[in-house]
Amino acid sequence: MTESDSQPVVLITGAAVRLGAACARLLHDKGCNIVIHCNRSITDANSLAETLNAQRNDSARVLQADLADTQAVLQLGEDAIAAWGRLDVLVNNASAFYPTPLENISDDQWDDLFASNAKSPLLLAHATAEALKKQKGCIINISDTHTQQGLKNHAVYIMAKSALEGLTRTLARDLAPDIRVNAIAPGAILWADQGNDHSEAIKEKIIEEISLKRMGTPEDIAQAVLFLVQQGTYMTGTVLHVDGGR
Ligand SMILES: NC(=O)c1ccc[n+]([C@@H]2O[C@H](COP(=O)([O-])OP(=O)(O)OC[C@H]3O[C@@H](n4cnc5c(N)ncnc54)[C@H](OP(=O)(O)O)[C@@H]3O)[C@@H](O)[C@H]2O)c1
Repeated sequence: MTESDSQPVVLITGAAVRLGAACARLLHDKGCNIVIHCNRSITDANSLAETLNAQRNDSARVLQADLADTQAVLQLGEDAIAAWGRLDVLVNNASAFYPTPLENISDDQWDDLFASNAKSPLLLAHATAEALKKQKGCIINISDTHTQQGLKNHAVYIMAKSALEGLTRTLARDLAPDIRVNAIAPGAILWADQGNDHSEAIKEKIIEEISLKRMGTPEDIAQAVLFLVQQGTYMTGTVLHVDGGR
């Protein structure tokens, strides 16, 4: 980020809850203005913005968009830049995540999983590149450590996250030398809300397989995002695994 008298601006997709909200809180705490993107979680997004604005006046705005709608995604990019007239960081965090057993994968699931996990990050990079370039900014794509070893019954999600990592490496070349592009691949941080219900026994088995023998926290991911923004100034095209050595 370049030095300037206005606050750096960060757009985080899917920032109303969970990992995205943790990133929003930490970057806000470090002095950034935050564009909180959401789709369905508008109440949570407004409540987070209210909390951040109470800490620092006019430091958080909410933008709603369905990332499966190309026009809405491009508009999101434009509106995020217009919010404070600059953009320093784009965090592509939003993600649909659910199983797609091989025997009944539908076109709708394919479109849905690729829209949030791969296509909208590309569209948003396109929509914000000029603004990010002016700030010598960066893009951070939130992937998943399972791209390395696969994840049973999740072929489409893993394909989409693998595409996101390929996009990360390619955009790092396309947007160099002005914009750094990196990815973070979280391991087990928070159990999914729905569609991936694990029994206690399965949760224990997953934790047993993690070298550090514990789940990570949303703050671990937020700290990695902050690192890539502030310290990782000689890093581009990399995927940082924050997964307890899974
Ligand atoms: N949780 C983990 O342990 C874990 C592990 C590995 C990787 N990750 C990755 O880390 C990131 C954050 O994880 P998380 O568990 O916090 O995510 P999450 O809660 O499952 O999803 C984050 C947000 O994505 C948004 N989203 C999904 N589809 C969308 C669409 N079509 N349009 C707009 N927004 C959409 C939703 O926004 P609304 O609620 O506003 O609709 C949702 O709140 C994700 O990229 C995930 O793949 C997480």
